[in-house]
Amino acid sequence: MTVVTADERRELGEELASALGTDHVGVQTQRFPDGERYARIEPQLDDRATVVGDLRPDESVVTTLLLVDAAREAGATTVSLAVPYLAYSRQDRAFEPGEAVSVRALLQALSSADALVTVDPHTPAALDHFDGTTVAATAMPEIARSLEDRGIEAVLAPDEGARDRARDVAQHLGCAHDHLVKERKSAREVEIHPHDADVAGRTIALVDDIIATGGTMATATRQLLDDGADRIVVAATHGIFADGALKRLEDAGAEEILVTDAIPSSVSRISVAPALARGTRRLPSR
Ligand code: R5P
Repeated sequence: MTVVTADERRELGEELASALGTDHVGVQTQRFPDGERYARIEPQLDDRATVVGDLRPDESVVTTLLLVDAAREAGATTVSLAVPYLAYSRQDRAFEPGEAVSVRALLQALSSADALVTVDPHTPAALDHFDGTTVAATAMPEIARSLEDRGIEAVLAPDEGARDRARDVAQHLGCAHDHLVKERKSAREVEIHPHDADVAGRTIALVDDIIATGGTMATATRQLLDDGADRIVVAATHGIFADGALKRLEDAGAEEILVTDAIPSSVSRISVAPALARGTRRLPSR
């Protein structure tokens, strides 16, 4: 097997290849004068290729599709996609008549690959829109390890959807876990309902799949500090940090923010490569 990445993701590709014990090919994509992308994989590939495919920003989707096609042209008979962040997965149904089911549209386009591995997708069931085999891996083991030695006394999910993630991280750390109940008021605003989690005087880790505007984590942080928590560490797999989310989190009193490099950012201190490697190993060998 060969891991193929666009040059921007060389480091992640090399880490993934090393975790899988395979070769890595970094592809320098170019542009035609009209701005359209061009990709060529020069070395001949053996029968299996894994393309690391970013879906963010939108333009990366095109690069990902070109790399899948180039991998076949270069000789791969089976091409799997390793997608660190499954973008658009929160629009997994039409909430209003006439809305696009965005994740379905995206996964149908990506079905030019034979298999897809992703990490902590918002709704794993959405992967059914992909034509081939899919694996939803998780970076919670790496997140849990990054929280060791930080004196975490309880792990909380900011909403019910993240409850199992908080439980898994707490199990690793050997501490208590709980979840809050969140009500979304708008795209940027949420309300956290009153709770009876035991947080007073404690160091709490808040764990979620994604930080987008930071509204969820900032509101939960502020609430827990108001309830007497001593310190809050915020951790998530995917850090989008839209609309000044990092500042919003700092202003709310989060002591530390930890995310993976599934979406590269200034606070991406955890590699997503081990999760992608675990997922890739779960794919059938043919
Ligand atoms: C929602 O259910 C997700 O797990 C996240 O809590 C949410 O998407 C985070 O969005 P934001 O940072 O904009 O509150």
